[in-house]
This record gives sequence, C-alpha cells and structure tokens, in this order.
Amino acid sequence: MATGKRQMKLGASIRGLGYNASAWRHPDVDPGASESFAHFAECARIAEAAKFDTVFFADGLAIRAADEPKGSLCRSHENVELEPVTLLSALSVVTKNIGLVATASTSYNEPYHVARKYASLDHLSGGRAGWNAVTSWSEQEAWNFNRDEHYGKDERYDRANEFIEVVLGLWDSWDADAFIHDVEGGRFYDPEKMHVLDFKGRYFKVRGPLTSSRTPQGRPVIFQAGASDKGLDLAGRFADAVYMAPHTLDAAIKGRSVIRERAAAFGRSMDDVKILPGAQLVGGRTRGQAEDKLEYLKSLIDPLSAMARIAAQFGDLSVYDLDSPLPDDLGDSGKITVSSNMIRKALENRWTLRKLCQEVGMGQQLVILGSYDEIADTMQEWFDKGGADGFNVMPSYLPGGLADVAEHIVPRLQDRGVFRKEYEGSTLRENLGLARPASRYA
Ligand SMILES: Cc1cc2nc3c(=O)[nH]c(=O)nc-3n(C[C@H](O)[C@H](O)[C@H](O)COP(=O)(O)O)c2cc1C
Repeated sequence: MATGKRQMKLGASIRGLGYNASAWRHPDVDPGASESFAHFAECARIAEAAKFDTVFFADGLAIRAADEPKGSLCRSHENVELEPVTLLSALSVVTKNIGLVATASTSYNEPYHVARKYASLDHLSGGRAGWNAVTSWSEQEAWNFNRDEHYGKDERYDRANEFIEVVLGLWDSWDADAFIHDVEGGRFYDPEKMHVLDFKGRYFKVRGPLTSSRTPQGRPVIFQAGASDKGLDLAGRFADAVYMAPHTLDAAIKGRSVIRERAAAFGRSMDDVKILPGAQLVGGRTRGQAEDKLEYLKSLIDPLSAMARIAAQFGDLSVYDLDSPLPDDLGDSGKITVSSNMIRKALENRWTLRKLCQEVGMGQQLVILGSYDEIADTMQEWFDKGGADGFNVMPSYLPGGLADVAEHIVPRLQDRGVFRKEYEGSTLRENLGLARPASRYA
C-alpha cells in the first residue's frame, strides 16, 4: 500500500434494518432486530473489522410519516428504534476503534443535554464520539415537543447556530489538565482551569460549566447534514464532517467545493471538513449479478410503503394505477414541489407509478451499481476528482448489505491504497485526520 496517499473515509449507516423501505421482508433480515442489541453489535463488528471510520445512526424524534396513503404506516419497519446515544454507549463497550456517531436535533433538545451526552460518550468510548447536528424537518417531531408546527427555516437555523455555540462553549468548561487530584494539598481540581460559560443569547441562557471534564478527543466530532443555504453555512462554520446526498459526480464536486469555500469563509482550512456523500453500494462478482441483486431488492418493496415516503410531496398516489405512466399533470398540481432528482427524473421519463415506488423505496441516496471492481472504480473516481473525502455507506438491508461491502469492496479499496488496512489512531478525530481542537481558554 502506498504510504502518504490521501485516504478515503468510510462511514456505515446502520440505522434500523436498512434503507430499503421493505428491508424487513428480506429473507436474511430478522424483522424483530430494530431494537436488538445483538443486531447492532453485529453490524458494528462487521464495520470495525473492515476498518470503517464510523457507524452512524440517523434519528428522528417521532414517527415521521403520516398514514398516507391509508394503510401504509403498518407496512413500514421504520416506526420503532432505540435511542441512538443510549445504543452507542452500549456499542462503545464491544468496539475499540470505530467512531460512534448519532444524530441529535438542535430544535428539540437543550444544548446542555447534548453537550453532556456526547461528552459522556466520548469518555466512555475513549474518544470516539460524533454528533450529527440536524435541525429536524417534520411536523410530527414538533408535536412531541409542545409545538403545533415545526420552526420555520430561518428560526431553526438561527437556533442551531446558537445551540452549537453553546455546546462548544460547554465542551471547553474544563482545561485538559484541570483535575490535579492533589491529595496532599486537598484540591481535586485547579479552580483556575474551570470555566463558567455564562452564555446569554436569543434562544438560550446557559451558565455552565458542564459536569464533564475535557473529553479524550478535545471535544466530540461534529457532523452536519443540512443541504439548504443556511445548512451549508452551518456546515462551513462548525462541521468537521458533512453528509451529502449528491446523485452525480458533478453535483458532488460542486457540493464539496461549496462546503469547503464556506469553511474558508469562516476562517477555517478547507481540509478541516470532510465531505461524505451517502451511497448504497449494490455489487456482484459481475455486473449482471449486481443487476439481479438490485432487481431483487426492488421486488421486495411494498408500493404503499414507498408512496408513504413521498406522500408529503405527491399526496396520495394510491388512487393511480401502478403500471400506468405517472399522470402528466402530476408535476403542476400545486401541492408538489418538484425538488428532488428522483421526482424530476420520474416525470421527465414518464415512469410508471410502480417504477417510481421502486426507486423511492430503495432510498433517496445515490445507488452505485456494478461489479465490485466497478464500484471501487467509481468510488475512487469520486474521491480522486474532488467529489468526496469518503462515503457514508447506507446498506439496503442489515447486516447482509454491510457485510457484502466489507467483504468485497473494502479489500479492493485497500488494494488500491486509498483505504486503510489498520486504524491510524485511537480516536475518531485521529482516524479522520482532524486536528485536536484547542480550548478557547488555551
Ligand atoms: C446523509 C444524511 C443524513 C441525515 N440524517 C438526518 C437525521 O438523522 N435526522 C434528521 O432529522 N435529518 C437528517 N438529515 C436531513 C438534514 O438534516 C436536512 O434536514 C436536509 O438535508 C434538508 O436540509 P435543510 O434542513 O438545510 O433544508 C440527513 C440528511 C442526509 C443527507
């Protein structure tokens, strides 16, 4: 393996049973595993054996789908899950090197809660905690937190900016050498090295200090996933790593350079932020085998479950015939925003409703299809041409879809010298190649 060569970062998204809308119907999937520690321990074990940088749990604070079309909700496996920081705390005990990343919402938490939980996770795991800071997007989450509707975009991002400022401030509460344990002198810590934040902003009033010493990696790693202009600003200002969802190499190159420029605009080095497009990797020994696998994954998808994923944009599609082209006027019915690539493609290509359901049911992220060699080629091309610093792998079903990547694709990336064979360090920050942050009081 070439040393000194830029290295790809790999994350494994191991939420639930996988990203296929009907993953629970896959014969290799245990439909009851969504709340099984053994299931997630197995996923994390596979990812760590393959030297992935992270396991990642996306999260929402509600059942975020309505029962639209009627009867769809009871067909989805996405209605129960474990609270992810609790789950990561347990996983920290059975893993040693892999980063442990979970989403927490800046709209429906208090900064002190988030600062404390992720600091604790960083301590428990020896420096492997990461926080994916999101602003949340559903009304259903608002309904669980004393509100009738979600915050508007400006407000949720203004709040998020302030929220993260507070969290970072709390994480600096103690200098790394504050706890002197001076038995003779009787001082447990040096009072000069404890800092009271005393933050007073528009949304938050937080005194501090945090009841958690400076964490093993200085502070947990911050991930971000918001794609709007304000989301990109937040990423540029605070994020160490960013999840993106581009569907083409051109979009990835553009998206990555926008985030790098925003980081520079906030006075940071462009290389301080790692950009990780999400991708589902569907491979086989030959391209034909991969195509068969994809067809099979699509055949599992229950059209009603898929329709539920886009009901907010399309309304109730179950009134249409599954095997007829989508109606022409679907795109201008007023309630539809033709926003995602998928929807535009569907309308342009006059897909049948069934085809749209199959595509949507696979998940909104990029699918890289091909022989294992072709997939490794594509990943390397995106990496070399500046579309990615690595990938967030989002398996269609778990743990099988992840095991396939670990067994067949990771070794090919290692052979090319673009992915590690051993972890570089013991903290997530070291493995991601990120500098240890200085305290604001240093
Ligand atoms: C890979 C990826 C992971 C995401 N994970 C979450 C998540 O766990 N929870 C959440 O509420 N939103 C999540 N999002 C959604 C974003 O936070 C955000 O709401 C979305 O990208 C829209 O951007 P905007 O909020 O800037 O408009 C994720 C997005 C991507 C691309």
